[in-house]
Amino acid sequence: MTQQRVVGTNVPRKEGPAKLLGVARYVDDLTRPGMLHGATVRSSVPRGRIVSITFDQSIPWDEFTIVTADDIPGRNLVPMFLEDQPLLVPTGPDARVNHREEPILLIAHANRERLAAAMAAVKVTYAPEPAVFTIEESLAQEPVVWGEGESANTFKRFHLEHGEVDAAFAQADLIVEGEYRTGAQEQLYIETNGMIAEATPDQVTVWGSLQCPFYVHRALKTIFGLPDEQVRVVQTETGGAFGGKEEFPSVLAGHAALLALKSGRPVKMIYDRAEDMAATTKRHPSRIRHRTAVTREGKLLGCEIEIAIDGGAYATLSATVCSRATIHAAGPYQWPAVRVRSCAVATNTPPSGAFRGFGAPQALFALERQMDKVARAVGLTPEELRRRNFIQAGGTTATGQTITQPIDLGALLDRALEVSEYHEKTKRFQRENVSSATKRGIGFAAFMHGAGFTGSGERYLNSLVGLEVTREGKVRVLVSSAEFGQGTNTILAQIAAEALGAAYVDVEIAQPDTSVVPNSGPTVASRTAMVVGGLVERAAGKIIESLRLAGFLGETYSPEEFLAGARAYVEQFGELKAFQRWESPGTIFWDDAKYMGDAYPTYAWAVYVAEVAVDMTTYTPVVTRFDALQEVGKVIHPILAAGQIEGGVAQGIGYALYERCVWRDGVMANNQMTNYIMPTSGDLPPIYVHFEEIPFEHGAYGAKGIGELPMDGPAPAILNAIENATGVAFHHVPLMPEDVFEAMVEVGR
Ligand code: MOS
Repeated sequence: MTQQRVVGTNVPRKEGPAKLLGVARYVDDLTRPGMLHGATVRSSVPRGRIVSITFDQSIPWDEFTIVTADDIPGRNLVPMFLEDQPLLVPTGPDARVNHREEPILLIAHANRERLAAAMAAVKVTYAPEPAVFTIEESLAQEPVVWGEGESANTFKRFHLEHGEVDAAFAQADLIVEGEYRTGAQEQLYIETNGMIAEATPDQVTVWGSLQCPFYVHRALKTIFGLPDEQVRVVQTETGGAFGGKEEFPSVLAGHAALLALKSGRPVKMIYDRAEDMAATTKRHPSRIRHRTAVTREGKLLGCEIEIAIDGGAYATLSATVCSRATIHAAGPYQWPAVRVRSCAVATNTPPSGAFRGFGAPQALFALERQMDKVARAVGLTPEELRRRNFIQAGGTTATGQTITQPIDLGALLDRALEVSEYHEKTKRFQRENVSSATKRGIGFAAFMHGAGFTGSGERYLNSLVGLEVTREGKVRVLVSSAEFGQGTNTILAQIAAEALGAAYVDVEIAQPDTSVVPNSGPTVASRTAMVVGGLVERAAGKIIESLRLAGFLGETYSPEEFLAGARAYVEQFGELKAFQRWESPGTIFWDDAKYMGDAYPTYAWAVYVAEVAVDMTTYTPVVTRFDALQEVGKVIHPILAAGQIEGGVAQGIGYALYERCVWRDGVMANNQMTNYIMPTSGDLPPIYVHFEEIPFEHGAYGAKGIGELPMDGPAPAILNAIENATGVAFHHVPLMPEDVFEAMVEVGR
């Protein structure tokens, strides 16, 4: 492979200086002339009919703008897969709420400080109805026929099956069963959700903190009944997202724009932390059951996996989250027979939504705990069981996808165990634990994460990117991909610079603005480097071709010569622009009807090793060291990539040991950063990041996705390590000290 000039190097972050200097402008830094501030009146019961709404006369209501569902010019809908979620609670006989914090009406005033008293003066009375809050309660509503269509309490079901499953269980020497649970998790981006809107009957514009400009664009078109060109969505500097700004900003944009339309003034809506945590989406809680058929020698014969995820009150993206969970459920193993049945159920809690990993963390937590259990049942080490069953290059996944890349999971495992000193530590901890009040242990998880949209997703998205050279001689990348701290602008500029032979400093990224950039899809699903980056690379090829055809570029050239040639071209022809549309590689096939085939363009592969210490006086488990080894294709920017992994591991440690959502009456009761505890840098162990690179032919310079991957491995690795330390198996996350305490009392330790 040829040596790259820019790709693979640690160039300065594109948006770094503005952030460091404090000049980056987040939505709450912006104002518009005559701007009002908006707020949301939300339901205080989890389910019921609205009997009346009254406005206390202590408030001079004529100073306020009030919006209800009656003010919606188009459809009262948050457009997603199922058309079930109203943007505002309907009025009249249909006035009913399905979850706590559901938006009932909106108010706005020029003075932000006047909003709280006004909101308190809106009195809503309800006729409450029975509500369900858990997966069990929801499933009990009616008998669930696994894998067969939708029903009243179920948003989506999947049934993935191949091989002779029943025969596999009939032949098995051992059948190992397990049940695993994962909790909700808050995305906890630094910047809460926020939006500014301007609106007239025929033009709606919003500026805000978001991941997917064209999702918001589609939502506003539906809500206002407007064509493409009369809606404009601009992403402002965004302080973190993690999936939490994938679908939710469509709601907030609709709300702000309705207030703007009614008042005739610009309207800003910024959630404070408590509102953001209580009312917006979180990771889907899950319950996953495994049955594993295995021989005495530890050969996996078959698996039967039942997945239930809690979607909350409306469908949002639950179907695709459930799909990713289903496809990842059998993991990186070669199964002769697989049966996975899954469902996303409805409860009366605020809707669950996208969160980094998108179903895979739940499924892989269950699987990688189950693998340790199976190992113990057959008398093998966790390592040996996995070695005997790893999928090999040329092998097939649960959906029948052939692994065409030369991946060697055994070798990945070797290296991960070596860099973490796994064998030496396993022995040492066992010896030392006998006489120590702190029990130490080590455990690992092996897993993969599909990069890009699931199944036919990329084909439907049909992404388009553009590249142009400006009159000033700058290269501009035109994409709807959003920078939110993960490094998108930097890596796409690297790819463009590399492919054009331009200098990195001469490449800039256009601000995502639907009136300027083409729809290159949402910034989700670990797709940006691989899919969007790949299109940028190919668009660059077209620019070079134009320059060469016109005689402005030779066979070889320096970045300065590129710039001079490009400028001369623009001078002569007026503009230099190229677009590239996604074309599904002809080697990738997915069958939606059979739910089989190439579920993802490719996978990233990983082995994560966690070292833990459990204080037997306080029963507090802590992670003392973490090694994250992954094969992610070409690493575009080593420091940013390592940062992605470290951040994801930190978030995974939070998922495993710290971040517990306390639910009370269908709403998060600990919706503050003082009582929803995330690990700080002081709680985190040293995290060592190790990369392997097998370039993927269809990704930019061989890149695959890495955004979501690091969320999948920490929880199972940590709980495997805790079992290794204490001898007690835990089957749920978050695992809190009180859980450890109860278990230890039970076993008398
Ligand atoms: Mo995501 S969880 O694909 O933003």
